[in-house]
Amino acid sequence: MKNIAILGSTGSIGRNTLEVIRNFPGKLRAVALSANCNAGVLYAQIKEFNPGLVCLKEESAALKLEPRLKSTTLFFKGQRGLEEMVQDRRIDKVVLAITGSAALTVLLKAIESGKEVALANKEALVMAGNIIMRKASRSKAKIIPIDSEQSAIWQCLKNENGKKVRKIYLTASGGPFRGKSRQELKKISVKEALRHPKWRMGPKISVDSADLMNKGLEVLEAMHLFGVEAEKIKVLIHPQSIIHSMVEFEDGVILAQLSITDMRIPIQYALTYPERLDNGLAGVDFCEIGRLDFEEPDLRKFPCLGLAYRAAKESGTLPAVLNAANEICVEAFLSGVIKFVAIPGIIEKIMDSHKVILQPELDEILRADSWARGEACRAVNN
Ligand SMILES: NC(=O)c1ccc[n+]([C@@H]2O[C@H](COP(=O)([O-])OP(=O)(O)OC[C@H]3O[C@@H](n4cnc5c(N)ncnc54)[C@H](OP(=O)(O)O)[C@@H]3O)[C@@H](O)[C@H]2O)c1
Repeated sequence: MKNIAILGSTGSIGRNTLEVIRNFPGKLRAVALSANCNAGVLYAQIKEFNPGLVCLKEESAALKLEPRLKSTTLFFKGQRGLEEMVQDRRIDKVVLAITGSAALTVLLKAIESGKEVALANKEALVMAGNIIMRKASRSKAKIIPIDSEQSAIWQCLKNENGKKVRKIYLTASGGPFRGKSRQELKKISVKEALRHPKWRMGPKISVDSADLMNKGLEVLEAMHLFGVEAEKIKVLIHPQSIIHSMVEFEDGVILAQLSITDMRIPIQYALTYPERLDNGLAGVDFCEIGRLDFEEPDLRKFPCLGLAYRAAKESGTLPAVLNAANEICVEAFLSGVIKFVAIPGIIEKIMDSHKVILQPELDEILRADSWARGEACRAVNN
């Protein structure tokens, strides 16, 4: 029996993880759940899964939830509470499904305490990939990716020598606006940006997928997870989203991982690894699909991907700045303050005015993050 903590259990990845746990009651158990403020959904999950550990981050929501819990439940509040809960010895594996930079310090705590981490969150690795991977190697904490593309690459590399990689093909569906003209992009509504053609996801990653920033974050994430330079990572638009990514080796052989588009598949493998278990989900019907298409990403229409490559090249604190500015821009777009097409311009300006610190310590990364947030808030309100 594996005892799982799900941080961000009320979100899209969190709910899919609970679905996997429901499917394998004899093998997986949810022992810890957390959310930011959604006390209603969290309470329903507590009633069903009866975890011994629960955390609600927002204090006012936490005060309302606490009296409804059993006396045997250990209840945590706030960021400190989350960081404390993740280290509990009852937890074998931590699913990190919190959105955004809020995941960084709790991920570091999980790694420091030697927990195995099934990682969905990408922003933490983008901000502080070197520090995270260094700490994981020191504490021997295993990081297993959940993100479908990273899971694909990880599976392709499993029995291979990482030094023999010639290229990684990071596939992307192209999002809901593939093929749209610049004029059309100027009129994009929030509702349209949230309607991804292949995946049902939380709002932040849906907007990131629509402007290809998500793919840029994944390039930065893959660099750290697999120790590969950005120049070796090629983004390939593959609208059917059947190939989740590929690795080309020095002898010209390419390994790919394919499956239907269902996040329960990479989540399940991250939870049950190294076992593959029958889940009743369909395989790929190649004759029904008929063809698999590929094209180059259009960096002129979707400049966010180019900005991420620039952050990868200049490195240091720049990826954290890119990430922070993006988080503020996405929030501003979702609340109707800026247009969809304004996002890359604001991020680029902030990147241009940042003085990069190379090989930063954690506090320098956090300072760059907070500086970029301030700049981005000013920019979106102008
Ligand atoms: N969705 C996907 O298919 C997918 C695929 C690959 C990678 N990812 C990555 O996985 C992460 C989660 O994505 P998602 O789509 O599941 O997001 P989501 O649906 O928005 O869910 C986010 C979860 O995190 C919690 N949360 C949000 N802000 C928090 C904070 N500041 N502190 C603590 N908890 C917080 C939320 O709680 P409340 O409900 O209380 O707000 C919710 O449980 C992202 O980094 C994303 O890039 C997602």
